[in-house]
Amino acid sequence: MRLNKKNILPSLKILITSGPTREFIDPVRFISNASTGTLGYEIAEEAKQRNHKVILFSGPTHLKPLKNIKVISFDTALQLKKEVDKYFTWADCIICAAAVGDFRPKIRFSHKIKKEKGLKKLILIKNPDILKGLGKRKGKKILVGFALETENLIINAKKKLKEKNLDFIVVNMLSLRHLPFGNKRVSFVIVDKEKTEEFKDIEKSVLARIILDRVEKLCYSQDLKEGG
Ligand code: CTP
Repeated sequence: MRLNKKNILPSLKILITSGPTREFIDPVRFISNASTGTLGYEIAEEAKQRNHKVILFSGPTHLKPLKNIKVISFDTALQLKKEVDKYFTWADCIICAAAVGDFRPKIRFSHKIKKEKGLKKLILIKNPDILKGLGKRKGKKILVGFALETENLIINAKKKLKEKNLDFIVVNMLSLRHLPFGNKRVSFVIVDKEKTEEFKDIEKSVLARIILDRVEKLCYSQDLKEGG
């Protein structure tokens, strides 16, 4: 990303991952999670309105398809990784809002498992941590992660920030009585290397704006420092 000659802020190239993964046991059964993809879609829409170039990687969702935004669909964590890797070089910023399953079944049966035969045990193996992998080759790209914590929120967030080499991390303040899935409003903390900011009970669309304000500030100030 370079400032143009008239010093008009140029559009950024932003990748956004969103929604749940599905890890298949057989053709009709899978392990997934309760993510609806709402926040990723809100971020994609806000970014597009700000004239940025956006690619949205979407897990299975019931949300209305977005107009004028390139959407790449995925089911599994491995598919998501492959797609994100393809566009990594292109991007100025990657926002990883997808709820990626940490494990997948070791065997994916090609036929439907019949109950007479049964499945005595299900062996799970670890999925790659996509965000951590991106952090290793981040360079000057801006990298944003998400987390869901029920305890030691700030300590865990700071650990993930460092381990995954992120610019900032958005942590859902999880109350077991009020899970964030499907809600329009959320409470969260944004943690970066310098500070921690808390936001209570705000709309996901407002959170999308806050995230993009931060991304823009980081990208543009980096470019100014370089005298671009
Ligand atoms: N993530 C990823 N690949 C994975 C798992 C997570 O890219 N295999 C990304 C998510 O998109 C999200 C962040 O990493 O941005 C979440 O990190 P993770 O450590 O999985 O957070 P939690 O799910 O909160 O982790 P844990 O279950 O260990 O608390």
